[in-house]
Amino acid sequence: MTIEQTLSIIKPDGVRKKIIGEIQKRFKDAGLTVIKAKMTVFTIADAHRFYSIHKDKPFFNDLLTYITSGPVMVQVLEGENAIELNRKLMGATNPEEAEKGTIRSDFASSIEENVVHGSDGPDTARTEIEFFFG
Ligand code: CMP
Repeated sequence: MTIEQTLSIIKPDGVRKKIIGEIQKRFKDAGLTVIKAKMTVFTIADAHRFYSIHKDKPFFNDLLTYITSGPVMVQVLEGENAIELNRKLMGATNPEEAEKGTIRSDFASSIEENVVHGSDGPDTARTEIEFFFG
């Protein structure tokens, strides 16, 4: 049994759609516990740092505009295999490719406005948790 922590972000479109409660219920029903949470707003500088891995991608400027467009809900999720489990609950980046019943399939409107972010591995989880809650 591996108890892990992972970072989850409900992005500005998720907050605007008023589905924070619905998404947190999905975490709870899957056995994940929200052990830290805060609402915040990405500054442009934060967004540059957080998404620096994507800085050369053609969608980078749009991503900065989107992620800074309103408040986000940032959470640390804890539970067995939390990293992989959260990614399963989210579904694929592109909602058109996301499995039915996943958060992105149910609520995302595009590959960019895809409602949630989740760490993609143990190293990223540590870095991303530190970024917001260090
Ligand atoms: P996420 O995987 O959480 O982190 C990177 C984000 O960039 C991703 O969610 C989307 O919001 C956005 N993104 C990824 N791929 C594309 C793309 N092809 N076009 C536009 N936005 C994208």
